[in-house]
Order: sequence, then C-alpha cells, then structure tokens
Amino acid sequence: MNKGKNILCIGAGYVGGPTMAVIAAKCPEYSVTVADIDENRIKAWNSEKLPIYEPGLSELVKKVRGKNLFFTTDIAKGIKDAGIIFVSVNTPTKTFGEGAGKAADLQYWEKTARAIVEHAEDSKIVIEKSTLPLRAAEAMHRILHSNTKGLDFDVISNPEFMAEGTAIDDMHNPDRVLIGGMESPSGKKAVKTIADIYAHWVPREKILLTNVWSSELSKLVANAMLAQRISSINSISALCEKTDADITEVAKAVGMDSRIGPKFLRTSVGFGGSCFKKDILNLVYLCEYYGLPEVAAYWEQVVKINDFQERRFVKNIVRNMFNTVAGKKIAVFGFAFKADTGDTRESPAIYITKMLLEERADLAIYDPEALDNAARDLKDVKGKFELVTDPYKCAKKSHAILILTEWDEFKKLDYGKIYESMEKPAFVFDGRNILNHRELFEIGFNVFPIGSTKMTHLK
Ligand SMILES: NC(=O)c1ccc[n+]([C@@H]2O[C@H](COP(=O)([O-])OP(=O)(O)OC[C@H]3O[C@@H](n4cnc5c(N)ncnc54)[C@H](O)[C@@H]3O)[C@@H](O)[C@H]2O)c1
Repeated sequence: MNKGKNILCIGAGYVGGPTMAVIAAKCPEYSVTVADIDENRIKAWNSEKLPIYEPGLSELVKKVRGKNLFFTTDIAKGIKDAGIIFVSVNTPTKTFGEGAGKAADLQYWEKTARAIVEHAEDSKIVIEKSTLPLRAAEAMHRILHSNTKGLDFDVISNPEFMAEGTAIDDMHNPDRVLIGGMESPSGKKAVKTIADIYAHWVPREKILLTNVWSSELSKLVANAMLAQRISSINSISALCEKTDADITEVAKAVGMDSRIGPKFLRTSVGFGGSCFKKDILNLVYLCEYYGLPEVAAYWEQVVKINDFQERRFVKNIVRNMFNTVAGKKIAVFGFAFKADTGDTRESPAIYITKMLLEERADLAIYDPEALDNAARDLKDVKGKFELVTDPYKCAKKSHAILILTEWDEFKKLDYGKIYESMEKPAFVFDGRNILNHRELFEIGFNVFPIGSTKMTHLK
C-alpha cells in the first residue's frame, strides 16, 4: 500500500465532506477516506440523501463514492492506512471554564490528535483544516510528538475558505489556497506534498505558502473582516431608517468605490453561520490573552452590532403591529442562515423566532431545506410554533410574513394569492430586502424593508 497516496479526513461535516469529494474527483490517483464518530452522519454520506445540502455536492459524491472516496466510522483503521490526515472536526465556542463564550473549544480537536498518536504505526503529515486559534499547530505538534513509538509528524495549517451554499464552486475556483508549514526541511517537504494535491486544479500562483502562524491568523482575520463589512452596513441601515436615506443606494454608491468594492455590503437581519461569530470571538479572546483590550473591544463590537440588528428587527415588528403580536399568527419564510444551505447554526432566524415566541406570537415556519435543523434548534423552546412544508399554507391566516433567508424561491411566490389568504392589515417585514416592495405595497401589504422607508396604507 502506498500510504502517501492515502488521504484520511477526520470529521465528515460541512467542510470535511465537500472538500474531500472535490479532492477525490480531482485527484483520481489518491484514495480519500472520510471518517467520523457520528454513525448517522456516515450512514447518510453513504446513502442517497446526504447529511448536508450543497448545490452540486450530491452529483459529485455519486461520481466518486466507492471508487476513490469512502465514508467510515473506523477511525483507527483510517489512521493506520493513511499517510496524509486532514483534521476537520468542529471547534465551537467554549461554553465553560476559562474563556467561556469566546475561546474555541478544542476538546474534539485534541481527541483527534490523541487518536492519531494511539493508532499511528508510522510517520504522517497532519493538516489542520478546522479553524483554530493561533499556535494550535504547535500544540498539535507537541501532542503528536508525545508518542513513545519514535514517530515523526509534520503539522500543517490549511484553513478552509469555502462558504456554505457555494462550497463546491468555491473549492473548484478558490481565491487562494493557504498552506502554512514549519521551517524545517521535513516541514517544507510536507508543504510541497499538500500543495501538489491542490495543484491538480488550482493554479500555482493561487497557492500561498506561509509560516504556520500566519496561516492560522489569516483565517480568523478573513472571517472577522467579512463580518465587519456586514455589521458596518447594518449599522448604517439603522441610520437610513431614521433619515429617509436608502441603504441599497448608499451601499451601491459606497461599493462602487473600487477601494471598497460591493461584496458583503448587503444589509440584512444579520449574519449567521457556524463561523463568523465564533471566529471573531476567538480573535477577541486572543487579543485579550495577549493584553490588547482595545483591539479586543474593537472586534467584539462587530458581534454586538449583529445582535443589535436582530433585536431591532423584532422591535420593529412588534411596534408596527400595534405594539403586540401576542396570539397573532406570523409566517416565517426562511430558517437557514443563508440561501442554498440547510445549515441553521447561529442563524438569525433562531434568535428572531425565540424573541417573537417570548412575545407570545404563534409562528408558522417554512424553509425549503432547513426544517429538520429548525426542529432541532427549537426543540426545547416554549411557545406556539409549527413547521410547514408549503409556503402558501404557512402564510394562510397570518398577520405578517417575515423574510429571514434570501432563498430565490421567495421572490417567485404569488403574493396576490398569499395576500388574499392573510388577515388584514397584512404586513411584510423583508429581513433580506429581496422582494419587490412597490409591487407588494400595490397588492395591499404594509411593507417594512431594512434600511429604507416603510410603505404603509395605515393612517
Ligand atoms: N462550515 C463552514 O462554512 C466552514 C468554513 C471554513 C472552515 N470551517 C471550520 O472547519 C471546521 C469544521 O466545520 P464544519 O462546519 O464542517 O463542522 P461540522 O460540525 O459540520 O463537522 C464536524 C464533524 O466532526 C466530527 N467529529 C468531532 N469530533 C470527532 C472525533 N474525535 N473524531 C471524528 N470525528 C469527530 C463531528 O461528529 C462532525 O460530524 C470548524 O473548525 C470550522 O470553523 C467551517
């Protein structure tokens, strides 16, 4: 067996599954195994209905699964057989002890390192794909070298920049691939081995080779800067609503400055997803740890503005629906944290629905891909809500529709028909600014966009 051509990825989640499917498809001479402790997840990866929704993923997996892409729970065998091990387990925000609420919880990541030490029979390259705090590679290196079998490991940082919803496209055409390695000769050789895998489809000039610490920090900073743009434009949306300026016009005018650019300047109910909040808080924690409270406070404000935007949205709903939503049916369109994914981790919809349930609203929730996850998120939440698989049924007899995810299908619904089936006065709160507000107003709706003047028939 040529172990150098055997890749193992530990962690079969939103990152591990899609990245390894792309590597398997692009590098047919490699055998790629994805292992996880979650039996149900592995079963789903081996079935017709994959555990995550991602455009293009299912077709890609079907092409290579069973040929050079395998999914397994046998982590020990996977470690023994592989010469190259990617670690892409979850690194959520710590909920207990020192650094709770900010620092990354590294328990899953450390368990993986210990499993590698336990089962490895020869030296390997270990690649951090999970997003980790600075100097985690050093800690990984120490744990791996605590082995008493005389084995040597090279640890590499290769953070993943793909975004859910466009994961397959992002991996096929990445802006860059970042590979951080140690300075030693074997470290350099390991970096080259990993770069050669990506070079099967990524132009060499887009493969950046850095030291391991720069690579780890770049991932946190990239996410913090992206989230900062969203919070910046959202903070200005609040000002627009007070001044009759229009956020779409402001964002366009600002984004046409080529030094700024248009990306991530779309206002909304706020950012979500498993990464932005946790990575910024992780950065905040690192700054505090290194005695930089001003820098920590600066980045923490990005998260605070996001919370503000979610709370503001709910306040706006209650205030405009005559200061009460108690007992009123409200239709929630969208639960995923963004379109084209079923992922609901840190979705603004979770916080918004919880706040509305506290106000005793009756919620009906529709999402084309995220209802299973919504059921899990709201499992222990008190209040009246139902998950509905049809948007027209969802809106029937409701007083208001909230758009919480920018799914394309919401733009194509028959709002005339929906309006007829609703209680009057009927409201639309467009938390993503995706609908045609003038048209809705003409149908009879009272329309509340984010960051521009409301359109209402109420005297
Ligand atoms: N989701 C994204 O968009 C994204 C993008 C870039 C980077 N990241 C980073 O990548 C990492 C993984 O993210 P994700 O969204 O794929 O997480 P995920 O929760 O979807 O998947 C992680 C998987 O690891 C498994 N796991 C945990 N401990 C294990 C162990 N000891 N052995 C084997 N398997 C184990 C879990 O069962 C789970 O299936 C995180 O650090 C995240 O910050 C995520």
